[in-house]
Amino acid sequence: MPDTLSITDNRTGKKYEIPVEHDAIKALELRKIKVKEDDFGLMTYDPALMNTASVKSRITFIDGDKGILRYRGYPIEQLAEKCTSFLEVAYLILAGDLPAKNQLEQWRQNVKLHTFVHENIKKLMEGFRYDAHPMGMFISTIAALSTFYPEAKEVMNQDVRQKQIFRLIGKVPTIAAFTFRHTKGMPYNYPDNELTYAGNFLSMMFKIGESYKVNPVLEHALTVLFILHADHEQNCSANVMRSVGSSHIDPYSACAAAAAALWGPLHGGANEAVLQMLDEIGSMQNVPSFIKSVKDGKGRLMGFGHRVYKNYDPRAKVIKRLAYEVFEVTGKNPNLEIALELERIALEDEYFVKRKLYPNVDFYSGLIYQAMGFPMDFFPVLFAIPRTAGWLAQWQEHILDPEQKISRPRQIYLGPSERNWLPIEKRP
Ligand code: CMC
Repeated sequence: MPDTLSITDNRTGKKYEIPVEHDAIKALELRKIKVKEDDFGLMTYDPALMNTASVKSRITFIDGDKGILRYRGYPIEQLAEKCTSFLEVAYLILAGDLPAKNQLEQWRQNVKLHTFVHENIKKLMEGFRYDAHPMGMFISTIAALSTFYPEAKEVMNQDVRQKQIFRLIGKVPTIAAFTFRHTKGMPYNYPDNELTYAGNFLSMMFKIGESYKVNPVLEHALTVLFILHADHEQNCSANVMRSVGSSHIDPYSACAAAAAALWGPLHGGANEAVLQMLDEIGSMQNVPSFIKSVKDGKGRLMGFGHRVYKNYDPRAKVIKRLAYEVFEVTGKNPNLEIALELERIALEDEYFVKRKLYPNVDFYSGLIYQAMGFPMDFFPVLFAIPRTAGWLAQWQEHILDPEQKISRPRQIYLGPSERNWLPIEKRP
């Protein structure tokens, strides 16, 4: 059997053979299909790119029906359980393989060299209002980094590119922590390079005076959460990173754009919505009536459902277990019982079963973040820190791919055809 697709254009009766590779056809092949010689040729119409592979990637694999997520071939469950540092996973995602001992040490050193920010970054951040949203500050400050490192625009230079990768991975926890300290009116804490990636971040967030000791259980929990959030193939923000990066802009500007995409409530903002929902439900006895209201179309069960996963999100499974470890230290989040009851009822209910709606990564993560002392509006920033590694890997793969060009989709134009300009007094 040939690996082709036979198409008959009923408008002309002509037949076409289109090669099939990797279960896909090249959309450009369809351009051969024309009624008249000077036609533009056939296009596909795919709002939200629901069925369009826009890249060939070797980074992250998801099988949504089976609930599988792998970075560079490694199952997420193994990475979450066995990797002792986030930087090990960041290396894997960026370099393609798990690091050997000396490679990991070198990588750590390189990132640590870049954890501090220019003192003017502090001044820039001081300019934000006291109640500025941390994600707004984060996005703006990441974008501002491009003005500190103008050489970053040389995106096709391997050494320059690598240096910006070290810088971004090194600096995002620092900038994130500064946004938190700013909203609290507290002095910014400088990085402590003796600590781990997650430990240093916790210390920059919560240290007051010299007495702060990073709790190892919370440090481990944050490391696992960072690992789980590091990449997720062609999601909304990764697509933005690639698309913006395809114009060969510097990675700081592209990362700021990706972070802006992440901020939306349908993407990285859902865990905050979960906590608001749990607060609204208020108690266990209100769970059945809440489920009924969701089924009646009065709102969604936040933290449930996913565009790709039609099974239990593998990240949600890991996070649910982690929640118990964290609550041993912080005390139980009072909303946990409501979340468990929601999950129990929803997983048995025909409405959710039929639509394959399962808990996603956001269902339990917010409960952990809240118990650890992170304010709700800080949750998207917590997502952006580890996802920076994923964005950079997606960006680098994209600009080095010889099949890629500047992203530029087509449209189906439905507006007015040509018409003549009218002076203002003659307009209807
Ligand atoms: N609660 C109730 N019903 C739902 C939900 C939900 N959370 N999600 C989907 N449905 C229903 C939806 O009403 C539709 O029903 P019907 O066929 O009767 O019209 C059906 O399921 C399919 O939904 P859809 O909106 O076509 O699915 P989608 O793939 O476009 O949406 C989603 C995916 C994640 C936006 C959606 O499931 C949702 O809004 N979930 C709640 C928000 C949330 O938890 N988002 C976090 C996503 S994971 C984080 C990340 O990876 O960024």
